[in-house]
Amino acid sequence: MSNFNQDGQREQWGSKVGFILAAAGSAVGLGNLWKFPYMAGKNGGGAFVLVYFIILFLVGFTLMLAEITLGRYTQLNAIGAYRKISKKLSWVGALGVLAGFIILSYYSVVGGWVINYIVKSFTGALNVADAEALGGMFGDLISGTVEPIVYHAAFMLLTMIIVLGGIGGGIERSSKILMPGLFIMIVIIAVRAVTLPGAIEGIKYLLVPDFQTIIKNPGIILDALGQVFFSLSLGMGCMVTYGSYLSKDTNIPESATAIPLIDTGVALLAGLIVLPAVFAFGYEPSAGPGLLFITLPAVFAQMPLGSLFSILFFFLVLFAALSSSISLLEVCVSYVVDEWKMKRKTAVFVIGFAMFCIGIIASLSFGQLSHIKIIGDRNFFDSLDFVASNILLPLGGLLLCIVVGWVWGTDKAVKEASNNGQLEFKLASSWSFLVKWVGPIAISIVFARSFIIPLI
Ligand code: PHE
Ligand code: NA
Repeated sequence: MSNFNQDGQREQWGSKVGFILAAAGSAVGLGNLWKFPYMAGKNGGGAFVLVYFIILFLVGFTLMLAEITLGRYTQLNAIGAYRKISKKLSWVGALGVLAGFIILSYYSVVGGWVINYIVKSFTGALNVADAEALGGMFGDLISGTVEPIVYHAAFMLLTMIIVLGGIGGGIERSSKILMPGLFIMIVIIAVRAVTLPGAIEGIKYLLVPDFQTIIKNPGIILDALGQVFFSLSLGMGCMVTYGSYLSKDTNIPESATAIPLIDTGVALLAGLIVLPAVFAFGYEPSAGPGLLFITLPAVFAQMPLGSLFSILFFFLVLFAALSSSISLLEVCVSYVVDEWKMKRKTAVFVIGFAMFCIGIIASLSFGQLSHIKIIGDRNFFDSLDFVASNILLPLGGLLLCIVVGWVWGTDKAVKEASNNGQLEFKLASSWSFLVKWVGPIAISIVFARSFIIPLI
């Protein structure tokens, strides 16, 4: 994402498809492939998926449209956009930058695991059919001291190079091929996974909700809320920034519908790979962050050309992770460049290095530092994820609802979203109601239920 072309005009996306691909590139990432399956596994499967869908429909689509519209209207990055609405609001944007900073610190650790699994696929180390051995191999990797940090460094460096080199455009162009490629791959792998003997239990686990679980465990609702924000890249101004590069004739309501649909499709497919495999191979669905990494190689072992699939798949996962991580770094960098007048190059190095250092602690929290619990029984890695996904992003979303719904006003927002009434925005009045009332109230209730009621 470069800022301005020679004529001093803001650069714009080449085409509508270009924008949807770039925004979907930010959205589709480790959140879908790695985090969604293990969050669902940990939170009772169908119960989690049901709550996820309710929040997606009430808040996800609504905020996606709100962020993109705010961005296109102001033609500014997140902080600038909030400031343009009101001088007193730039801190809302800054909060989002903080969220992005925290997320990339541990996202990069997982990105490192992916690179390691590409290497393992090449060397044939993953050619083991034994489920227990695969679990052990993953455990050895993440609990190590030097190895996971080296791979984390590699992922962070790749992200920095892409953001610095301004080859973000190249990423967008390649996503035209690689994103559909990823999609086809996961469909094929999902077909294999759901036809494994015993897979049906996993499909049921993922898709059939047990209402008792939801009522007994309010943590599920907070996790689902956090996951919607994390997965759709919402609540931190990322989509505001992407929207700011849109031309005035794009159909925003259409894009704001397409992106969450693509994102959710990929997440569900990933769930349909991982959870059937969990049951087929006798793993625990609540095994946590390693779920994707221990189940996939076991599925590949049951496929013809499994090792080729393995290499290709982890490559595509890396690509998806990078097209998300660059959007996270970009939000932080453009903040520091615009607000603190830092040189872009310096900003990339300083921020990238700071994230790398925090990521080191996150990585060690699976090994040497695993005895240290920060929030509840969460290690440092899980605590970072909890603070960013479950607190900062929804808080950012809540504030965005207030800013767009009440400060800027839904009339002006609808006018922008419908290109001054030139195109049909059928659901305009429902959307206005959702931003002004449903979004803020829903997020507040989940917060209250999670942080206030359990304390009493
Ligand atoms: N949505 C990305 C994913 O699912 C992660 C992300 C979050 C990217 C917030 C940008 C902003 O992997
Ligand atoms: Na996502």
